Amino acid sequence: MKIAFIGTGYVGLVTGTCFADCGNDVTCIDRDEAKIATLKAGKLPIFEPGLGEMVGRNVSAGRLVFTTSLRDGIQSAQVIFVAVGTPEAPDGSSDLRALHGVVAELAKHINGPKIVVIKSTVPVGTNEVAHQYFQKNCPHPVDLCSNPEFLKEGAAIEDCTKPDRVVVGVRRPEVGETLRELYAPYMRTERPFIIMSPESAEMTKYVANAMLATKISFINEMANLCEKVGADINDVRRGIGHDARIGFMFLFPGAGFGGSCFPKDIRSLIHLSKQTGDPIRIMQAVDSVNEDQKQVLTRKVVSHFGDRLKGKTLAIWGLAFKPRTDDIREAPALVLIDNLLAAGAGVRVHDPEAIPNVRAIYGDKIAYCDKPYGALEGADGLVIVTEWQQFRNPDFELMRRLLTEAVIFDGRNLYDLETMRASGFAYHSIGRQSVKGER
Ligand SMILES: NC(=O)c1ccc[n+]([C@@H]2O[C@H](COP(=O)([O-])OP(=O)(O)OC[C@H]3O[C@@H](n4cnc5c(N)ncnc54)[C@H](O)[C@@H]3O)[C@@H](O)[C@H]2O)c1
Repeated sequence: MKIAFIGTGYVGLVTGTCFADCGNDVTCIDRDEAKIATLKAGKLPIFEPGLGEMVGRNVSAGRLVFTTSLRDGIQSAQVIFVAVGTPEAPDGSSDLRALHGVVAELAKHINGPKIVVIKSTVPVGTNEVAHQYFQKNCPHPVDLCSNPEFLKEGAAIEDCTKPDRVVVGVRRPEVGETLRELYAPYMRTERPFIIMSPESAEMTKYVANAMLATKISFINEMANLCEKVGADINDVRRGIGHDARIGFMFLFPGAGFGGSCFPKDIRSLIHLSKQTGDPIRIMQAVDSVNEDQKQVLTRKVVSHFGDRLKGKTLAIWGLAFKPRTDDIREAPALVLIDNLLAAGAGVRVHDPEAIPNVRAIYGDKIAYCDKPYGALEGADGLVIVTEWQQFRNPDFELMRRLLTEAVIFDGRNLYDLETMRASGFAYHSIGRQSVKGER
């Protein structure tokens, strides 16, 4: 099949490349000239495990091409996916300007019958508005569908090639069948392909993210309570997770969720519900618990150093909003950096992939270190914000030698409390008792 993707970001580039990988001819379009130039030069504009090799293979085979021209890019496509960003607007709603702009351009340039698929996460009703627009402004028949994307950055290729399910919202069953054919190579293990109305498909994406965000804020709030009452959230987690009705997924306490999806999607859902006159209350609580949780590491640092914080230097391991990505949108690490700088502390950071993105924000206000141990040199304590695998088994002896004060604030509960007691570190984690350390 001939396919076009409009929007070559985390979603468009990954899904477009995966479709090319099973034999389709894919054109990825983006208005960002630098991004397209980078891709044309054989480099990736983002970090996603396994993506570089897959893009290279499909470009070499002539199945994957890049362009900034929407008009040229869509001419021969039977199916056009729209995967542009839908960031948060100041009032919490979704900023749909990029999407509406693409719809207007498409209506102008479409040259025959097409299937247009909205893959961006958009509030319920967006598909219908675009459908009406095409009916009025496009001389060719356009079947407009919704196909929300569920991939996770860091495991995006795996998610695309082995989806738990694919959801499509269509107006005509035949269109659903064309999309089923397109997805068939990745559905061979009888994964469900679920066809519904565009409204239900749009809603499905928000409800999925709302549920996942709720689990995180839930466990974070329970963790904070555990700390206060002398319980250990890790034990509690084990105690509840074996209950098949509860399970273990997404119930890890931490420093709050970030990323380009959960925060904006739950606020968009809240906004949508307010428009109906019946605001949903649970998501408002989830959002405010999360905003508070992003302060939890700062609170621990302040409570440890007290008046001594000004002039101290803190090392930070992990800046991306989660491991295996370079994405720092709404990352808890940024809140911590802002707080530390405001308190007069110095900051030395390490992240395996996200440093260029963080440098673009902070410039020379903080120190950037290629190696995790480099960040510790001369620092007065370590704060762990993102749970990259390589932080899980560090050399505590070396760390003690490099840090001027043996203290770790662990926002991801990476280490066993017994290990930390033996290490001599003061150790503050989430939802567990602090280890005092040797003075
Ligand atoms: N990132 C994720 O993990 C993820 C997962 C599921 C769903 N989503 C949703 O998918 C959508 C895209 O997310 P993303 O993370 O890929 O965003 P992104 O910011 O990485 O990429 C969006 C791209 O669209 C391009 N663009 C914007 N307007 C354009 C236009 N008029 N013409 C051509 N290109 C244009 C931008 O230049 C950018 O490269 C969002 O709605 C998001 O909520 C994201």
